[in-house]
Amino acid sequence: MLPSDPGPLPPALREDGLAEWHQFHQDAMARMSDLALALDHQGWPGVERACRWVHEAFHPHNQWEEQRLFPLLELVGRGQLGKQLKLDHLEMGDLTQAILDGSAGGMVADPSPHGLRARRLLDLVRQHIDTEVHCMLPLLQGQGATPADAPAGEGYLTTPGRSAAASGCPGCAPPGTCSGSAPDRPAGAAPG
Ligand SMILES: [Fe+2]
Repeated sequence: MLPSDPGPLPPALREDGLAEWHQFHQDAMARMSDLALALDHQGWPGVERACRWVHEAFHPHNQWEEQRLFPLLELVGRGQLGKQLKLDHLEMGDLTQAILDGSAGGMVADPSPHGLRARRLLDLVRQHIDTEVHCMLPLLQGQGATPADAPAGEGYLTTPGRSAAASGCPGCAPPGTCSGSAPDRPAGAAPG
């Protein structure tokens, strides 16, 4: 339950309202698996296809989260986590734009930096969804989350040290204790 709102959960947080949100994340993870496969084989058309999907479909999803979910983090004293997640969204946008700018019809002029950007996008999207599902959502629903709560299945363990399942979410202090009572990270502290 949100501390400042003892009534029913806002529509954006009700399970029926979240079904589409969860489904989108599952679709995104499948797209990221496609991207990983394409990167493993330097299949640039596949990389471009996955990045175009991020550009066209993920961006509106991120905007909805910024408008409907992230402000609620302020109410539970976790505004810093919202800021970190917003920075993730900005980085996703920058990476996607750079990748699409460097690719035309599946042809890539400079494969090395192109591949590095796409790999970073892959890791970022995976760890970002992991954090939202296993850290942000439990916090907003007043449940908190512990590492034991978070499944460590394929697609969720990503960037070492950033996975909510492995080490707590970026807004947690101390790392690894993802609970609704944990305060915001002090200003200037590095994300986990
Ligand atoms: Fe997000």
